[in-house]
Amino acid sequence: MEERDRWATKLGLILAMAGNAIGLGNFWRFPYQLASNGGGAFMIPYFVALIFLGIPVMWVEWTTGRYGGKYGHGTIGPMFYLMARESVKPKTALIFGIIGGMLAFSVASLLSSYYYQIIGWSAAYTYYSLTGAYFGKDTVQFFISYVTNTKAVIFFWALTMVILGIAVAQGVSKGIERWVKVMMPALYVFAIILVLRALTLGSPVKPEWSAIKGLEYIWKPNFQALSQNFFKISLAAAGQIFFTLSLGMGIIHNYASYLGPEDDVALSGIATVSLNEFAEVILGGSLAIPIAFAYLGPEQAVKGGVGLAYMALPNVFANMPAGQIFGAFWFLLLWFAGFTSAIATYNYLVAMLEEDIKLDRKIGTWVVFGFLFLLGLPVALDSSLVYLSELDMWVGSYFLVLLGLFDVIVAVWLFKPDNFWEELHKGAYIDVPGWFKPIMTIIAPLFMIVLLIGNTKDYYSMGALALHVSKAYVEGVLGGTYPDAVPIVLRARLVIIAILIIGAIEAYMAIKKKYGEELAKNEVIIKM
Ligand code: PHE
Repeated sequence: MEERDRWATKLGLILAMAGNAIGLGNFWRFPYQLASNGGGAFMIPYFVALIFLGIPVMWVEWTTGRYGGKYGHGTIGPMFYLMARESVKPKTALIFGIIGGMLAFSVASLLSSYYYQIIGWSAAYTYYSLTGAYFGKDTVQFFISYVTNTKAVIFFWALTMVILGIAVAQGVSKGIERWVKVMMPALYVFAIILVLRALTLGSPVKPEWSAIKGLEYIWKPNFQALSQNFFKISLAAAGQIFFTLSLGMGIIHNYASYLGPEDDVALSGIATVSLNEFAEVILGGSLAIPIAFAYLGPEQAVKGGVGLAYMALPNVFANMPAGQIFGAFWFLLLWFAGFTSAIATYNYLVAMLEEDIKLDRKIGTWVVFGFLFLLGLPVALDSSLVYLSELDMWVGSYFLVLLGLFDVIVAVWLFKPDNFWEELHKGAYIDVPGWFKPIMTIIAPLFMIVLLIGNTKDYYSMGALALHVSKAYVEGVLGGTYPDAVPIVLRARLVIIAILIIGAIEAYMAIKKKYGEELAKNEVIIKM
C-alpha cells in the first residue's frame, strides 16, 4: 500500500481541526439561533447538549477516523464497514457502510453547495465594506440587490472556490496544514479586535441600548422562556452543537484519518471542542448580538434572524467611526472562518476520488470543483434563497443527527464498547473519565433518537414532510412566494434524492472494490 499523507505537526493538526469546526456556524449561525431562541434560555440546553452529545460524538468520530486511516480510508463508507464487521458478517456490515457513506457524501456535497455561497457573500461584503458601497443605503435592500446580481454572486463564489481548490490540490500536510497555520491565528486576531471594539461601544444611539445589555441577554439564564418552549429550544440548541462542531458530516473522521495509528485522539478531540466553544460562545457570542443591541436596540437584534450578519450589521458599520475597516474585519472574519471549514468538505470529496478510483489529487481537485460548481449554480441563481433554505432544512440539521446516530451504532456498539474504549485510549495523552462510557454508549444515542423524533414531528407540523408543497410551508418556513417557489422546492428535493443515490452507489463500489473477496466469502480476511 502506498504511503498516505499525514499531518506533519501536532500544531498543524489541531489548527486544522479547529479550522474545520470554527466556521460560519460560530459567527453567523450561533448568534441568530441564540437570538431566535430566547438568549439565556438557549444557553442551558446548549451546554447540556455540548456535554452529552458534542463531546462524546467528537471522540467517536476522531476514533473512527484514525481507525479508517490505518486501512487507508478517509471516507465513511469503508470506515463503517470495517468497524461494523466486528459484530456482524461482512455482507451486513456493507449495509452500514453504504448508509454512512451515502449520508456523508450528501452532506459534504450539498452542504458545500450552499455554504460556499455564503462564504462568497462574505468575500463580496469585505469588498463592499472597504469601498463603503452599502454606506448610507438601506442595507436590507442592498442585500437583496446583491443576491439578485447573479454575476457578482457567481464571481465572489467562484473566486472563493478557486482559492479553496488551490489549497486542497496541494494536499493535506503541504496544503491544508500550511494554509490553516496562517489563517487560524489571523482569524483569532480579527475576532479579538472586533470583540474589543464591540465591548467598548458604550451607548452610541440611546442611553438604554448597549453591548453589555446584549451580553446580559445571552448569559442571564432564562428558565421561564425555556420552560415555555422547552422542546423547540432544546432541538435548536442540540442542532447547533452538531453544526458548529462539524459532527455528523464525515469531515472530522476525514481529518482524523490522516493521523498515525498511535497518535492521540482523546486530548486532541477535547482540544478541538474547547477551541471551537471558545470561538463560539466567547468570541461569537460577543459580536453580532451585543453590537446589534448597542446600535439597533434589543428588539431589532433579537428579530435579526438569518439576516443579522449580512443585513443588520452592515447598518451598524455604516454608522460606526472607522466603520469601513471594522466592517471589512467582520466580513473577512466570516470569510476565513468559512474557508477553513469549507476546505474540509472539499477534501472529503477529493479523498473519495483519490482513494476509491485512484485519481491523482490535482486532477481530483478540479473534478470536484466542476461538480460543486454545478451543484451550487441553482443556489447562486435563486435570489429568493428558497432553494438554499430547503437544502438547509434537510442537510444542515436532519442528516447530521442521523449520521451522528450511526456513528455511535457502528463505532461504539457494533465495534463493541470495550474495543471502542481501548481504541480511544490508544496513544492517548489523557484518560477519559469512566463516567463518560455510559454517556457514549447509552445517553448520547438516546439523545439523538429523541432529537430525530423531535425533528421529524417538527418537520411534519411545518409541512416539510408533505409531498404537496403547501403555501404555509413555502411562505412561513422557507420565506418564498407561493406558488412561484414550489418548483424550486421540488427541484431541491430531487437533487437531494439524486445525491443520496449517488452516495450510496459510490460507497457500495468503494467497499466492494477493496473488500470484494471478504464480501464474496462473507468472512473477515483483511485485518490489521
Ligand atoms: N462547523 C462548521 C461551521 O461551524 C460546519 C461546516 C463545516 C459547514 C464545513 C460547512 C463545511 O461552520
